[in-house]
Amino acid sequence: MAGIFNNKAGERTDVRPPRHIAIILDGNGRWAKKRGLPRTAGHAVGSETFRKIATYCKNIGVEYLTVYAFSTENWNRPEEEVGTIMKLLGKYLNEAIETMERDHIKMKIFGDVAGLPAELQKLVEKTDEISSRYEGFQANICLNYGGRDEIVNAARRYAQDLAEGKAAELTEESFSNYMYSAGIPDPDLLIRPGGEQRISNFLLWQCAYAEFYFTDVLWPDFTPEELDKAIAEFNRRDRRYGGVKA
Ligand code: IPE
Ligand code: IPE
Ligand code: MG
Repeated sequence: MAGIFNNKAGERTDVRPPRHIAIILDGNGRWAKKRGLPRTAGHAVGSETFRKIATYCKNIGVEYLTVYAFSTENWNRPEEEVGTIMKLLGKYLNEAIETMERDHIKMKIFGDVAGLPAELQKLVEKTDEISSRYEGFQANICLNYGGRDEIVNAARRYAQDLAEGKAAELTEESFSNYMYSAGIPDPDLLIRPGGEQRISNFLLWQCAYAEFYFTDVLWPDFTPEELDKAIAEFNRRDRRYGGVKA
C-alpha cells in the first residue's frame, strides 16, 4: 500500500480514504493524440488504468468507486469511435466478470442500459446476477449515463408508482431510491482528470456535497499516487454541509 496511508515505519496512519469516490474518466483522446495514435488507443489504455485504480481503491478500503465511462452525449462522436468504445466495453465487461467471481467484487452499471448494444445488455445482466451474490467493494460503471436523464427517469418511475398507489411520500430520501445509485451513499470525492473543470452531466443529484478535485493528468496516465494526492487533498477539506465549523 503506497503513499499517504503509511508512515515512515510502514504503519497505517489515521488518514482515511473517502467511503465513495467518483471519477470522470477523461483525457483518453488527448493522451493518444499526443503520441500520434488514434483516439481509440487512448480508450484501450484508459480501460487498463481503470482496472488498476479499482484494485487500488479496493485495497485501501474505499467502499464504492463510481466511474463515468460513456455519457448520453458521447453518442455525438464519430460512429467509428463509438463503435470501438462499445467493443472495448464488451471486452472489459467480459474480463471483469472473471475478476468479480475471483475477488468477490460487486459491479453495477448505471445508465440507460436499454440503449446499449444487445451484447452489452447481456453482459450487464450477468454482472447484476454475480453482484447479487457478493457483499463488499462495489464498482459502479456509468454507461450511456446522463445526470439529467437519470433524474427525469426517476421522476417518470415515481409518477408511475404513484399512479399505481405504490409510491412513498416524496422526499429527498425516497426520491434517491429511484436513482441508479439507490441504497448507496453519495460520493464524498469527485475526481476529474484531463484538465477540464466541469461536471459534464455526471451524478448531478448525488454530488450535492461532494468535494471536487481536478487535475491536468490525463486519465491513461493516472496512477495510485495521483489518487493518493487527491485523497490527501480531500482530507484537508472542511466539509460543512451548509453549517458552521464546530
Ligand atoms: C474520456 O476520454 C472517454 C470518453 C468520454 C468515452 P475522451 O475521449 O473524452 O478524451 P479527450 O477528452 O478527448 O482527451
Ligand atoms: C465526460 O467526458 C464523459 C465521460 C468521461 C464519459 P467528455 O469528454 O464527454 O466531456 P466534455 O465533452 O469535455 O464535457
Ligand atoms: Mg473528454
